[in-house]
Amino acid sequence: MYDISVKDLGFNYDDGTRAIDSISVDIAFGESVGIAGGNGAGKSTLVHHLNGYFIPQQGTISINDTVLTKKTQEAIRKIVGLVFQNADDQLFMSSVYDDIMFGPQNMGVQGDTLITLVEKTLNDLGLWHIKDKAPVHLSAGQKRFCAFATVLVMEPKILVMDEPTSDLDPRHRRQLMELVRRLDITKITVSHDLDFIWDTCERTIILNNGRIVADGVTKVVLSDERLLQENGLELPLRLQK
Ligand SMILES: Nc1ncnc2c1ncn2[C@@H]1O[C@H](COP(=O)(O)OP(=O)(O)OP(=O)(O)O)[C@@H](O)[C@H]1O
Ligand SMILES: [Mg+2]
Repeated sequence: MYDISVKDLGFNYDDGTRAIDSISVDIAFGESVGIAGGNGAGKSTLVHHLNGYFIPQQGTISINDTVLTKKTQEAIRKIVGLVFQNADDQLFMSSVYDDIMFGPQNMGVQGDTLITLVEKTLNDLGLWHIKDKAPVHLSAGQKRFCAFATVLVMEPKILVMDEPTSDLDPRHRRQLMELVRRLDITKITVSHDLDFIWDTCERTIILNNGRIVADGVTKVVLSDERLLQENGLELPLRLQK
């Protein structure tokens, strides 16, 4: 089991912006949780903590009994995979193939096991035809799928996705939805695409100004027009007249 516990998390950027303001939340292994909120609400800052990209300045984050610190950062990263909002932050090798191979190779996976893992991931994500391309030359949607591949190849127990559907055409958005649904792990999805959250997350958290203002069953939270309006959001398209 890989349960997440966030307790009284606070985070200020260097310029003094208080991006996270004393957040506490528990997410049990296997849950699918959506995180929504207007621009600047603190969503990316929050999820950057979950895989140890940021270490808490105030409060704690733990996965089971492991508290996130500089010392445990590597161990936490093996459990939690983060797909960044900007795919360029994730891709740095000279080919798609090498980018996907990088993580597992670093973890000591070798030989046929490594090749099989990389090729399976290329196939699962439909990236075979562009495996030799330089990630910098990919289209935005292709980059997003490639970034996903570099995370999924590590077989995380907890998958955190920051705006996974931005840049995707309708067909790829649906493919991603099907892929995410098939994954039997904890999934945390930050998105402005509330229809995607509706379709993939049982639970939804709304953030505003670095605080949690709602946390409940997705279909209840995302049907509450007033709550959404008060927090800079609009009803999912499927509920709009
Ligand atoms: N590097 C930084 N330095 C200073 N302030 C920052 C930095 N990064 C983010 N912020 C501020 O922190 C707050 C939260 O930003 P964050 O990126 O977490 O929001 P978000 O909810 O992910 O927004 P979006 O929907 O636009 O992606 C914002 O007020 C933002 O201006
Ligand atoms: Mg963001």
